[in-house]
Amino acid sequence: MTDRIAPLASRPAWKALQQHADTLRPQHLRDIFQTDPSRGSRFTAQACGLFLDYSKNRITDETLKLLIELANQSGLRERAEAMFTGKKINTTENRAVLHVALRAPRSESIVVDGEDVVPGVHQVLDKMAAFAELIRSGAWLGYTGKPIRNIINIGIGGSDLGPVMAYEALRHYSQRDLNFRFVSNVDGTDFAEAVRDFHPEETLFLVASKTFTTLETMTNAHSARAWTLGRLKQTEAIARHFVAISTNAEAVAKFGIDTANMFGFWDWVGGRYSMDSAIGLSTMIAIGPENFRSLLEGFHSMDVHFRTTPLEKNLPALLGLLTVWYTNFFNAQTVAILPYEQYLKRFPAYLQQLTMESNGKHVTLDGAEVLADTGPIYWGEPGTNGQHSFYQLIHQGTRLIPCDFIGFYKSINPLGRHHDMLMANVFAQAEALAFGKTAAEVRAEGVPEPLVPHKVFAGNRPSNILLAERLTPYTLGTLVALYEHSVFTQGAIWSIDSFDQWGVELGKVLATRILGEIESPSEPSLTHDPSTSNLIRLYRSQR
Ligand code: F6P
Repeated sequence: MTDRIAPLASRPAWKALQQHADTLRPQHLRDIFQTDPSRGSRFTAQACGLFLDYSKNRITDETLKLLIELANQSGLRERAEAMFTGKKINTTENRAVLHVALRAPRSESIVVDGEDVVPGVHQVLDKMAAFAELIRSGAWLGYTGKPIRNIINIGIGGSDLGPVMAYEALRHYSQRDLNFRFVSNVDGTDFAEAVRDFHPEETLFLVASKTFTTLETMTNAHSARAWTLGRLKQTEAIARHFVAISTNAEAVAKFGIDTANMFGFWDWVGGRYSMDSAIGLSTMIAIGPENFRSLLEGFHSMDVHFRTTPLEKNLPALLGLLTVWYTNFFNAQTVAILPYEQYLKRFPAYLQQLTMESNGKHVTLDGAEVLADTGPIYWGEPGTNGQHSFYQLIHQGTRLIPCDFIGFYKSINPLGRHHDMLMANVFAQAEALAFGKTAAEVRAEGVPEPLVPHKVFAGNRPSNILLAERLTPYTLGTLVALYEHSVFTQGAIWSIDSFDQWGVELGKVLATRILGEIESPSEPSLTHDPSTSNLIRLYRSQR
């Protein structure tokens, strides 16, 4: 599929963008806006209830035209179509990439290896819904006959970050008499703190692992098993207090969880793209099946938008192309995600895996070096807190940090003037970043000359503003799918495999070997580099 796509540097639009960037870099957003005031409303797009203002980017109509040409010359459309139709575009793992099937309506059909996968998706959703209702209604009883009050999701990476983020984001919609906790770290503190005030009789563990082999998750799951049996004694209790979410039925059975209590998914769902699969069981228990379906509808509406809307008005394509623009032509190293919505406090952390595990790649699909920077570092915190911490660097530091501001017209918790203050800060920050404050303006305020350079804001710092009515399950679905497809767009331009993650392997292998050496009863013969061997010896002597 990549055969007919020229290497990045020889695509005509890439070359044209290089020249165009040279002419645009010296221009200031102040001047760009002055010569083209209509851009404030022209460079906006709307879809699925999201409004995007991307006018405060260092772009012109020509930039957009060239970026879209680049997308076309990179085969973005064809690659997206290959994904939506179940082609095995994750070539290094020979897998289809079908998170979009997780939110496809029952009426759709998507065929992989001769099988329509959509009915299976809905079967699992129905099974999840029935189980979620049992827990929510108190009908599912623990081994000693008490209803479940505490739900602990054990998982890591995609089997944790999505569930945590969604729980926090949608907490307002959650059933408040149920307690939800999430254990991910192999650091025993994570488990110990999660269970310290819970009783096993009322606690249900959701062991979430696509592979059901991940060291952290298996270790925590075994500790959970021991904690449960420590109080409930009988192994039959496990069936009432453990369910599994996995693609690996064999390993689930081996662990001792009845596969009747297993919620499955498929190898065509990547871990970081799985929060709307059975991995979202904790989300469904928290917010209920109806709200979960509304979350899926949000995802699906963005899928349809991405698949069918011309690139000029295509939100994920625009976001992805702007990220390529700054990464490759302005040497930007990072993207800041700044939600002005406290419930989205884990959204930046969620996006870190989605974006960086996907696009942190140095070779193309053909195995050749990518001769350009790929995935930028995503990071962020909710506003306004970040303003009192790291915004100083974004405003006056030496680095260019494109920002995505996310805000809502309506608060979920209206309280006096709070929401207007919050949103005033969104607009103020984006304005300050773009237009800054000149030395002349600072002097006009009577600032003493030695202080003038310190009080100047250079401006010309780009940002997007995303607005929606209110944070709902539907809106969250649209937001997550927006970034999924933005990541896809970036990966298509760089011709990389955004769906594998070989970079996590080496550390896992070495850790297993080092664990054996640490626990070895006799002095191990260490053949690591001198620093690592020395550290292992030190740890062995001090543990
Ligand atoms: O180590 C990386 C990774 O494979 C992620 O891609 C994945 O989300 C996470 O580990 C957890 O994997 P699993 O769901 O198989 O336990």
